[in-house]
Amino acid sequence: MRLAILLSGRGSNFVAIHDAIARGVLAADIVAVISNRPEAPGIERSRELGLPAHVLDHHAYPNRVAHEEDVLRLLAEAEPDFIVLAGYMRLLSPTFVAAWPHRILNIHPSLLPSFPGVDAQAQAVAYGVKVSGCTVHFVDENLDAGPIIVQRTVPVLGDDTPESLAARILEQEHQAYVEALGMLATSQWRVEGRRVLFS
Ligand code: GRF
Repeated sequence: MRLAILLSGRGSNFVAIHDAIARGVLAADIVAVISNRPEAPGIERSRELGLPAHVLDHHAYPNRVAHEEDVLRLLAEAEPDFIVLAGYMRLLSPTFVAAWPHRILNIHPSLLPSFPGVDAQAQAVAYGVKVSGCTVHFVDENLDAGPIIVQRTVPVLGDDTPESLAARILEQEHQAYVEALGMLATSQWRVEGRRVLFS
């Protein structure tokens, strides 16, 4: 399974996926790591790991379309089976999503459809939910909305802050992304409506 990683920041989910591959837990190759931010720690880490690292700084383009065209060009060259969004802080246009149907994955730090968008962990604390978690899903043209592949839950504790909840969820994110990719790699799967079905 060939994976392209898109990231914008820390890159801990990317590193978790790389570690799972290195440990032999996940049979995959990371064929490209693309960052829209030159200073992202994740892209620096990908260079240290000797992976094909690319910076496509969105500030260097006149508009969103031009930036996406270059990202799509790189992806076409890399020929991934799946495009893994790992803290990629850019909305993908409908054109981008349509180019890779059911081939783009995202992870979100809540149990979708609760708390889409930014600051999901803070939204969960503020709402007072007792359980939260993370969701790995296919990307469609709507924000944090595509068919769900894996979810994992964590408790929300009385003294949680957004930061403490985020840390608890992040541990599960690292496992959930590896689990979802492993399921896609090793099982037959199909999407029926909103449901991702494995056999
Ligand atoms: C994670 O919380 C993920 O759920 C969200 O962005 C964050 C990325 O973290 N989409 P990292 O860069 O993988 O450490």
